[in-house]
Amino acid sequence: MPREGARIILGVGGGIAAYKSAELARLLVQRGYSVQAVMTHSATQFLTPLTLASLTHNKVITNLFAERDDSTATLSSAIEHIDVALENDLLVVAPATADLLAQFAHGLAGDFLTTMHLAFTGPVLLAPAMNTNMWNHAATQVNLKTLQQRGYHLVGPDAGDLACGMVGAGRLAEPLEIADAVTALLHQSLHQSRDLAGETILITAGPTQEAIDPVRVITNRSSGRMGYAIAEKAAARGARVILVSGPVALAPPMGVEVLRVESAEQMKNAVMANLEAASIFIGVAAVADYRPRHPADQKLKKTASRLSIELEPTTDILAEVGRQKGDRIVIGFAAETQNLAAEGKRKLELKHCDLVVANLVGLDGTGFESDENEVLLITRDAEPKAIPRAAKREIASRILDQIAPLRLSARARNA
Ligand code: PMT
Repeated sequence: MPREGARIILGVGGGIAAYKSAELARLLVQRGYSVQAVMTHSATQFLTPLTLASLTHNKVITNLFAERDDSTATLSSAIEHIDVALENDLLVVAPATADLLAQFAHGLAGDFLTTMHLAFTGPVLLAPAMNTNMWNHAATQVNLKTLQQRGYHLVGPDAGDLACGMVGAGRLAEPLEIADAVTALLHQSLHQSRDLAGETILITAGPTQEAIDPVRVITNRSSGRMGYAIAEKAAARGARVILVSGPVALAPPMGVEVLRVESAEQMKNAVMANLEAASIFIGVAAVADYRPRHPADQKLKKTASRLSIELEPTTDILAEVGRQKGDRIVIGFAAETQNLAAEGKRKLELKHCDLVVANLVGLDGTGFESDENEVLLITRDAEPKAIPRAAKREIASRILDQIAPLRLSARARNA
């Protein structure tokens, strides 16, 4: 259903498909949205700003340094690219040229559209259009992947006859299809915007490091990406998020309180110290199951031809949280190399979880270290639900979508 009154930035790149952005502007206005068109200099070679101004009943922005009409300065910054970024709900770029994809992916800010894009924090929908070879070029595909991993949405391109005479992928999606994608995204962001407000979510992420001696550790391949993606998405949906993180090379997600730890013991202590405040616990960390029983005080010398290190079990943090569950929603992960469903179910029962997210590890492209994942959601009441391979941020959103139904079934069980 269209959301009347939503404010859309229509970014127009310089390609022959720019003429179709006029029809897109008409459709968006027809749906009751206020449309602010922003054209790159090249776009104005294909379509006049006057066309878009007439269709949107709004001035069209083409220049980062143009004189500003003060009557349009509604925010305190009075810096137009920041005001436009703050005042609008969604950015749709049609056509998104190869050049714009590259500039967005690399954070360049050479004109109004790219500068404003950096300041914009809402959903971004890209409708690419270009020659097939440009679309298939490794650089374009890498840029696109980068943007998708950052959560940008894509509509098209379609395949067919292109203006350059070639036939193949690269044709701008139809304006109606782009307008429908805008409406769906607005609906999604409105629906999800603050649905976790009031929750405090405690999340573990990354690996742990267990000391063998002062310079050597036992660790694993976890990059922290899955846990950080959940933390980022949960904070964006209004939750207070406390992230207990093992050693990773990731920047703290916006609005998240990060507690950095190294060992399983430190992770357990940080979790237990914050459990009281948490209404939801999500154990994503790859916590070491064993640690050296007697870490050496000094660096071990290479003397013997063999070396044995005695290991002892660490505390199972998730199981401990499960024992003190109370009214909390407890979500665990299961990293398996086989029998995903059965092992996930076993861990669900053993650790008193409401949901176990089972993923296969040891494969290329999913699980540890990768940017994507593919998971099975295992609960007590329903059949396991598969989420096909997608960016970890997307998987994170689908996991957080389970919280409302989990609360409902917990209430029904306790009624
Ligand atoms: O970090 P990435 O590179 O993005 O990779 C993501 C991931 C593969 C690490 C993640 O998706 C994942 O599967 N995390 C769980 C890893 C794991 O340790 O799984 P497990 O099946 O061994 O443990 C089951 C559950 O118990 C997990 O929720 C784990 O956090 C928890 N656990 C395990 C041992 C322990 N001592 N304490 C725990 O809390």
